[in-house]
Amino acid sequence: MCGIIARIGHGDAAETLLSGLENLEYRGYDSAGIAVQNGSGVKVHKCSGEVDDLKSSLERQPHGNMGIGHTRWSTHGPPTDENAHPHTDTAGDVAVVHNGVIDNYDELRTQLQAQGHEFNSDTDTEVIPHLIDEYRQETDDTEQAVRKAVETLEGSYAIAAIVDGEERVYAARKGSPLVLGLDDEEWFLASDVPAFLDHTDQVIYLEDGDIVVLEPDNYRITNLEGEPLERSVDTVDWDPEDAGKGEYDHYMEKEIHSQPTSLANTIEGRVEDGTVSFDSLEPGTFENVDAVQFVACGTSYHAAMYAGQLLRAAGLPTDVIRASEYETAAGPVDEGTLVVAVTQSGETADTLDAVRTAAGHGAQTLAVTNVVGSTAAREADNALYIRAGPEVGVAATKTYSSQAVTLTLLTQRLAADVPEATPAEDREDLLETLQDLPQHVDTVLETSRARVLAREFMNSTSYFFIGNGFGHSVALEGALKFKEITYEHAEGFASGELKHGPLALVTDKSPLFAVYTDGSDDKTKTNAIEAQSRGAPIVAVGPADHPLVDVADAHLSVPDTHPVWAGLLANVQLQLVSYHAATLLERSIDKPRNLAKSVTVE
Ligand code: F6R
Repeated sequence: MCGIIARIGHGDAAETLLSGLENLEYRGYDSAGIAVQNGSGVKVHKCSGEVDDLKSSLERQPHGNMGIGHTRWSTHGPPTDENAHPHTDTAGDVAVVHNGVIDNYDELRTQLQAQGHEFNSDTDTEVIPHLIDEYRQETDDTEQAVRKAVETLEGSYAIAAIVDGEERVYAARKGSPLVLGLDDEEWFLASDVPAFLDHTDQVIYLEDGDIVVLEPDNYRITNLEGEPLERSVDTVDWDPEDAGKGEYDHYMEKEIHSQPTSLANTIEGRVEDGTVSFDSLEPGTFENVDAVQFVACGTSYHAAMYAGQLLRAAGLPTDVIRASEYETAAGPVDEGTLVVAVTQSGETADTLDAVRTAAGHGAQTLAVTNVVGSTAAREADNALYIRAGPEVGVAATKTYSSQAVTLTLLTQRLAADVPEATPAEDREDLLETLQDLPQHVDTVLETSRARVLAREFMNSTSYFFIGNGFGHSVALEGALKFKEITYEHAEGFASGELKHGPLALVTDKSPLFAVYTDGSDDKTKTNAIEAQSRGAPIVAVGPADHPLVDVADAHLSVPDTHPVWAGLLANVQLQLVSYHAATLLERSIDKPRNLAKSVTVE
């Protein structure tokens, strides 16, 4: 939530800051701002609205070789011009952008106001420039002042600051992501790599407690005590093309259509001669595991449901727990428990909190994530990357598919490693048919009738999604995606649950998408027909070889394959239904209202 960027180098910074912010808008898009320093003071430009609104509000691009920028998802105070970042001290000499939440801002604000500081916003962030200013007056050394200011702050932060008359950017992190980008002629700081991927793929993932000072030809990383730190430089293997929209109208459309490629990347080198192996997981990593808990939120939770079903079938005690419910829903946790955090961003606060709680009980932890160097990847005992490439659309699409595939492979690795588990009887078929998945996704994308159906059902009052087993996870995901980007009422259920209440809502204006993954799923058929006899149009979503296809009002077909992969193909059909319905309704596809991609508050 909230994206920050900073840049220092030769030549003007504003253009780079603005385009970087556009690539960070998935983190929040209710206000935006930049501050640039050019020798004649710190100039702040900010407004409520998106980065596009900020660009149109600029009469001309401000000059200056260094600056900071922010795109906001409001936590403290509504999205107004005043609450937009950057925030400054009373004299406007210190400008700060911040991602995170300052817990003790109320008492700091009262204290600073008593010392004569004037505040202009409702945000927690505004205390930071005032604190830096206060300590500058005491120490006459800005770096010392930044250090003292962050020591005073309680909560989470990634901050970047510029100060009138100094050719430097100061930054610090604790609990919110911050990456340093190193190009030949310029340095960047940002919440995430896509902000500067057009310029460089050389990065340093900063750690909690790091303080950074950037100068045009030099950078320094120190700890809170001021001691120099060595941090390794990594090369990001994302293509800059991945961060743009390419020929597509929306990131979500591009990301749906890139699934054949992203899935091929996810699978590459991980299955050989019927054996699953991951570079990052040494043989024997799981030999002491006797129970597994998956923790995740939203779409990632739906992907985890897939793995939960497979592991339970392998005879391993397994729970799939919504991370926000972990404190009350998790059963016993000890050294034999493997806790798998499924999180695309690796920054979701609820998921991180659950992992920390589990680690506190001695559990072994594993992060399954898309973002190298993310907090989940760094904090868990091991990290497994889903290799989907950057996902910018707020609605998760390609990352769900890559998560479900990675987790399915993980279950096969666990079933082989853990003495109590029994590998699936059809394991060979499962792994062999996986190789065809990218091609099958391509076939679905080429042949889908999703747009026609989305148009046909446009004036409905509700949209229902049901499924059984793997189909249940897909039904929940189909409904989440649909409501998220169309703003229409949509709900997903286990097929058999429909008659235990929701059926009361079924009318001829509530189409029902019935997801199945093989011909033996009678439960979904029976329940779909019960809805049909109450007037609901039925769409069968799955392979052609199912009795529901003959009685359904429409069919979204997927190629014949193993049921595990058939579920993922059905999900691609539902992604397309949501996408087309939302475009027909002229919704904001990549930036649905009230949401942000990376939910870093609990
Ligand atoms: C929905 C969506 C969210 C995320 C959830 C968890 O399309 O994207 O439901 O899945 O916020 O995010 P991560 O996976 O980053 O932990």
